Amino acid sequence: MRKIIIDTDPGQDDAVAILLALASSELEVLGITAVAGNVPLALTQKNARIICELAGRPDIKVFAGAERPLVRELVTAEYVHGKTGLNGPKWPEPKMPLQDGHAVRFIIDTLRDHDKGSVTLCVLGPLTNIALALVQAPDIASRIQEIILMGGGFFEGGNTTPAAEFNIYVDPHAAKTVFTAGIPLVIMPLDVTHKALTTAKRIAAFRGIGNAAGKATAEMMAFFERFDEEKYGTDGGPLHDPNVIAYLLEPDIYKGRKVNVEVETGSELTMGMTVVDWWAVTDRAPNALWIKDLDDDRFFGLLVARLKTLP
Ligand code: RIB
Ligand code: CA
Repeated sequence: MRKIIIDTDPGQDDAVAILLALASSELEVLGITAVAGNVPLALTQKNARIICELAGRPDIKVFAGAERPLVRELVTAEYVHGKTGLNGPKWPEPKMPLQDGHAVRFIIDTLRDHDKGSVTLCVLGPLTNIALALVQAPDIASRIQEIILMGGGFFEGGNTTPAAEFNIYVDPHAAKTVFTAGIPLVIMPLDVTHKALTTAKRIAAFRGIGNAAGKATAEMMAFFERFDEEKYGTDGGPLHDPNVIAYLLEPDIYKGRKVNVEVETGSELTMGMTVVDWWAVTDRAPNALWIKDLDDDRFFGLLVARLKTLP
């Protein structure tokens, strides 16, 4: 089993990623760490617990992390996710507890307590918690097996500004800290997630599963996609975060290239832009596997197959 920590700002797409992870026996979820992003921290930590309970996993340890980015003010995305961050279904109040202790402490302690190179970080929101852990405990950088993250965009540009994708835009300084730490990185940018659209047929397939997880996923997607359908004029919106988990389960769904990626933190115009040296025109060393393509039917087929195993 692959040991993972999921760092997340739920968000409907984060929620589907968490469901996919909890439905996959190949993965051992050591804990879930919430960060401020799509909605403020008080909601992201609550939403993470709601989703664990939907998956029938009130045993999962959920921690609250950073309430705001390292340097900049928090920017949230209620315009996409709704006021609660999980608009769509009607949710009960979570009963499972939030763990005591800060998420950053949990990340550091877990990496130190497990064999070097045996824990993967799956990062679905702004990278604030990960950067804080690296600054507080630089020794953990060499202990992380791999970081798989959703963030950035190059061929697709940005979704929050013309230049920047939301997760990187919210905390560009955190992203820069992580991207320059020498940790093996796999990045799922808008370049690939914009090819994973929640079409009406795919939402019907979620609903057709016939269990609570399938129904909630269909209702979350129906709400979540409306903003992007309007913006991009597509049938369905891009389903971002579950690609991080799907990559761990079936990496050959994806195609990418080892490249150098730098993050803009100086210019306000391009703040949070991921500058990808796709054609190796600089001597900057490659620091990430940048994913550009996927087999979208396989991705959604995997999602349906795994959601079927949940309550
Ligand atoms: O830009 C999309 C990303 O920002 C996704 O992770 C979404 O959940 C938000 O966090
Ligand atoms: Ca997210």
